[in-house]
Amino acid sequence: MIELQGVTCTYGDGDVLTEVDLRIQRGEAVAIIGPNGCGKSTLLKLLNGIVLPRKGRYAFDADDITPERLKDATFAKRFHQRIGFLFQNSDTQLFCPVVHDEIAFGPRQMGLSEEQVARRVEDCIELMGIGKLRNRVPYHLSEGEKRKVALAAVLALNPEVLVLDEPMNGLDPRMKHFLREIILSLNHGGKTILCSTHDFRYIDGVFRTAVVIGEDHRVVRVGSYHEIINDKDFLRAQNII
Ligand SMILES: Nc1ncnc2c1ncn2[C@@H]1O[C@H](COP(=O)(O)OP(=O)(O)OP(=O)(O)O)[C@@H](O)[C@H]1O
Ligand SMILES: [Mg+2]
Repeated sequence: MIELQGVTCTYGDGDVLTEVDLRIQRGEAVAIIGPNGCGKSTLLKLLNGIVLPRKGRYAFDADDITPERLKDATFAKRFHQRIGFLFQNSDTQLFCPVVHDEIAFGPRQMGLSEEQVARRVEDCIELMGIGKLRNRVPYHLSEGEKRKVALAAVLALNPEVLVLDEPMNGLDPRMKHFLREIILSLNHGGKTILCSTHDFRYIDGVFRTAVVIGEDHRVVRVGSYHEIINDKDFLRAQNII
């Protein structure tokens, strides 16, 4: 489903991802872990076509994702519908004056009928338990509420792949448990999940695979999530714990 070959990214001064090779199959649940600044968000943005590689190749379901390809509006629209991205900072994501419109925005862009849009919006509002927020101003919501609305807006597109950048950040324990259940059920429903996180305790049992990025911005280990998370010496050596 997702294939990276020798991907290197830079923001101008030095590489922030170096020679990344990665293969992710459809239906997998993968955690991306590593210390602050190692390049997790950059990797996830790259997968969503927000950041482009300086070197290397990114293929999504056998389509090469290149600047030229993303300039093709039909291709770009389809690509962004198939892969949804929850930003680390929800403020980056929310821009509509009302929660309801925020969730309806994606389905409307997809050209669904107003009846279909309304159904999607209601389904996502119900799934996230945010009925009371429907007519609120996203900008005025608490961090946890914003996260729920942002996730509802992503899910409204019904993407095949969900890319979540530290979705547990700033949430209270109850919300973390709630989000864990949602991620699990989405994955069991067939969605491919990629998620960066530092919240190992709360996501236990969700991910089969972990990808560890080191401080040198290279992938240092890919393997069983359970084994990696329990390898305390390794995590300490990587400055993760
Ligand atoms: N827009 C940008 N311009 C310049 N440098 C950037 C930009 N975005 C990120 N960086 C730098 O790239 C590196 C990787 O950043 P990234 O956000 O991918 O890290 P991360 O692993 O997600 O960290 P965290 O755990 O803190 O979220 C960091 O050194 C960061 O300062
Ligand atoms: Mg980050």
